[in-house]
Amino acid sequence: MDKINKHFTSEYMAKRLHLIWRGPIVCQIIKELLKPKSVIDFGCSVGDLVKGFIEIGVNAIGVDGSEGAREHFIAPAENFILHDLTKPLYKIKADLLVSFEIYFLLIPDERIKFVKNVGRCCNRALISAPVELQEGLLKAMRLQNFYQVLMPTKKLQDNLEDIKHKAAVKGIYHNTMYFERA
Ligand SMILES: C[S@@+](CC[C@H](N)C(=O)[O-])C[C@H]1O[C@@H](n2cnc3c(N)ncnc32)[C@H](O)[C@@H]1O
Repeated sequence: MDKINKHFTSEYMAKRLHLIWRGPIVCQIIKELLKPKSVIDFGCSVGDLVKGFIEIGVNAIGVDGSEGAREHFIAPAENFILHDLTKPLYKIKADLLVSFEIYFLLIPDERIKFVKNVGRCCNRALISAPVELQEGLLKAMRLQNFYQVLMPTKKLQDNLEDIKHKAAVKGIYHNTMYFERA
């Protein structure tokens, strides 16, 4: 996890605390669209989405490989798992997985391992990836029996329209794909 800690330091996470305003808004939209019974956030950083889901009655767990994320985590500490998502993760499951702005950080071999973890943890997932990586994500997800469903992504965009230019929302608005397992 040295590589993760080197890039995603405590100082980096402290700065992300400025973005936690988005938590209640984004979580409410996802709750209305997809009605998740429980959520896992892969690459949760300071846990604004984990906190946002818990506050609206959806049990949520965050996974992140950064010690700094654990240090600045704003949801209950027991809802955080420190784990490198390029290594197998077996112990948690949820109805819906969300993962924003982490896939693009991984090298190709790590992306496959990350997607295998998605398959271990859920049957539906909202994952953001830059447009040029989306075909690869689609293929990797198909190998785990997940298929893209377009309508929820369109509805997510409609709901985020007013705040789509803001930091930490931009990536979700432009890059998110929704998958369900066949
Ligand atoms: C760009 S931030 C995005 C944070 C958050 N998902 C968001 O949308 O605001 C990337 C996050 O992924 C985490 N991360 C990067 N590589 C990771 C890995 N291999 N395993 C687990 N977490 C990782 C970082 O620590 C950081 O919190």
